[in-house]
Amino acid sequence: MRPIRKAVLPVAGMGTRFLPATKAMPKEMLTVVDRPVIQHAVQEALSSGIEQLIFVTGRGKTAIEDHFDHAFELEATLAARGKKDALQTVEATNFPPGTIAYVRQQEPLGLGHAVWCARHVIGDEPFAVLLPDDIILGDRPCLAQLLEVYEGLQSEGANLIAVDEVELEMTRKFGVLDIDHWHEDGTTFTARGIVEKPEPAQAPSNMAVFGRYILDSSVLRYLDRQEQGAGGEIQLTDAIDASIKAGTQTLGHLCEGRRFDCGSKEGFVLANVAFGLRDSLIGPGLKPAIKALLENLD
Ligand code: UTP
Repeated sequence: MRPIRKAVLPVAGMGTRFLPATKAMPKEMLTVVDRPVIQHAVQEALSSGIEQLIFVTGRGKTAIEDHFDHAFELEATLAARGKKDALQTVEATNFPPGTIAYVRQQEPLGLGHAVWCARHVIGDEPFAVLLPDDIILGDRPCLAQLLEVYEGLQSEGANLIAVDEVELEMTRKFGVLDIDHWHEDGTTFTARGIVEKPEPAQAPSNMAVFGRYILDSSVLRYLDRQEQGAGGEIQLTDAIDASIKAGTQTLGHLCEGRRFDCGSKEGFVLANVAFGLRDSLIGPGLKPAIKALLENLD
């Protein structure tokens, strides 16, 4: 099996659900406790063994590039003032040259189109996709869990998608997998299809895609068609479905951990509460404060 070395992180969406916060700032730079949402996905990818991150960016996203670059003035000032902890925190956002590649999606034509924009950097090797909106609170990085399942497969050329069980009425917000059969481990299944944002009555299951994928590079061939799907966008889901129909083995896997959809206001606020409670510095004070707040509501 060829190792998964590259991960695509699409960050070119407009983030309309967070306006006006996202008028002059990328939604990926909104913070969950003390770090931008995007940093959670970057840390997950690197700690899972990914060597190269490919960011698909768009207009108004330069703050992301600056965040993962050296900040000489800031670093020099922190060093001169002996603020070692703060300096370490800042230095942890710098990576060796070449770790991050930036590709521009000129128009937000959809997630599938964003991934397709990275095709020349991806080349012909299998790759991971992380949607930074989704962050996961758990003991093991979600992508590392997927990679473990992937490495256990008999042959190359498969797609593997992290899934989450959702209430049936929520299917219209996600890509949903059609289950062919469950594997013995009870957490992995073979899919026979995938549909983007189905109405509950048409949903093939309640196993929704969440933002972690390992994809065979052949999926890029289906994206070459540039076909519009749900919402008039070029959907990654449709390309994966076409590759399943053409015989590519595609699996869904239930990862451990609690997932937060930071692309929605509710998920974002909830993520801040959950990660805040887990934080060794602010967690102990936050818990009684939240309890008191809840008791005094209404
Ligand atoms: P979303 O569906 O959440 O869209 O994209 P969005 O534009 O980011 O946010 P809203 O709905 O307007 O609030 C899912 C992921 O796909 C990326 C987004 O950046 C996000 O990571 N994306 C989406 C692109 O990179 N390009 C696109 O054309 C669309």
